[in-house]
Parts: sequence; C-alpha cells; structure tokens
Amino acid sequence: MVKHCGGLPLAVVVLGGLLATKEALNELTLLTQLLGCPELHKLLIKGTIGKLPEHTHLSSSVTQLSLYRSELEEDPMATLEKLPNFNLLELVTDIFAGEEIVCSAKGFPQLKRLVLINLSNLQKWRMDKGAMPNLSTLTIFSCARLQRLPEGLKFVTNLQVLTIGNMPNEFTEKIRIVDGKEGEDFDRLPTHPFHHLLVK
Ligand SMILES: *[C@@H]1O[C@H](CO)[C@@H](O)[C@H](O)[C@H]1NC(C)=O
Ligand SMILES: *[C@@H]1O[C@H](CO)[C@@H](O)[C@H](O)[C@H]1NC(C)=O
Repeated sequence: MVKHCGGLPLAVVVLGGLLATKEALNELTLLTQLLGCPELHKLLIKGTIGKLPEHTHLSSSVTQLSLYRSELEEDPMATLEKLPNFNLLELVTDIFAGEEIVCSAKGFPQLKRLVLINLSNLQKWRMDKGAMPNLSTLTIFSCARLQRLPEGLKFVTNLQVLTIGNMPNEFTEKIRIVDGKEGEDFDRLPTHPFHHLLVK
C-alpha cells in the first residue's frame, strides 16, 4: 500500500485496526513502512496495533506520535525512547497490556511533551535518571491504577508544567502537602519553580 513515501502528507492518521487485523497480510510491514517514511512528522494511530516495529525501522523524522487503544503486547517505551527527534508522545486508552512501563537513561532525548491518559492497566512507571532530559510538559489523567510518579522525574529539570487529573487518592496523596507535611513522593516533583496543577 505504501510503496514509497513521496506522496504522503507530513501528518497521517491511521486506523490501527486496519493495520492489525489478522487477515491483513503484511500488517506490520505497512506500519513499518509508514513509520519509516522520511517525510513523515506526525502520526496518529487509532486502534489495535499489537506490536510496534523495531526502532531501527522508525524514521528519525517522526517527531509526534499519538496512539489510541493500541493494545500493544510490549512496553512501547522500550522502542519509542530510542527515537532521537521525538518531541510529543500521547498514549491514550489501553495502549499496553502490561502493568509497568520503563523509561531508561538517555531515552527520549528531545521529548518535550508527554501525555498519558486512561491507561487502565498501568500500575508502575519506572524512569531512570537521565531519561527525558528535555521534558517540559507532563500530563497524567485517569490512570486509575498508577501508584505513584516515577522517582526519576526529580531529575527532569526542564519540567515546567505538570498536570494531574482524575487520579486515585493513593497517587495524589503522595504529592500533596497536608497539614504542613509533605507526601512521601513530594521529592519526586522538580524542585525549581514550575507549574503544578492538580485537577480533581
Ligand atoms: C534539549 O533540546 C535542545 C534543543 O533541541 C538540545 O539542543 C539539547 O541537546 C537537548 N538536551 C538534552 C539534554 O538532550
Ligand atoms: C478508558 O478506558 C476504558 C477501558 O479501559 C474504556 O472502556 C473507556 O471508554 C476509556 N475512556 C475514554 C474516555 O476513552
């Protein structure tokens, strides 16, 4: 279907379900071809993908990726963090069947904005020191089982806006100050001046 990338617009919306139906031949190849297009900058994929291509097949020109209901079998961060020019990543609703995502040191070198919404399986988020050094905006909404902010977030010194909404008390109480007492994860919030918004 995508023989060459010449005619592709810079931004593409794909229905992931179409890419991933078992009947469709070369499903991964099509996704791989798309993600490998040197002209492609923004990609929104709605629906089941199952598996991302290896990062070596992903074009370094892709800077913005939004995934909705991808139902991936593996932690997408392991692949996506290796993209050198990524600046926006949105993961919305049932992206990953597992309970833990891991962002390793030096991963996501250019990522500026990360959005995590309605990831119902997600319980743990590990972030190593040095991951996402350029992250400036982080939004976490409706991740009902996520237990806490990752410890590595305290090293993300560029973080300027943190928005947290509709999260369980177990999560929010750890980053609040109650009666002058800081919650146990309060030190995971960056220490320099920044905007921190808790929406109930
Ligand atoms: C952050 O982004 C700027 C501008 O793109 C880049 O020059 C810098 O190397 C990045 N910082 C890190 C730590 O990668
Ligand atoms: C959130 O995820 C659940 C499944 O985990 C889904 O049923 C629901 O429609 C999602 N909500 C939105 C607003 O997408």
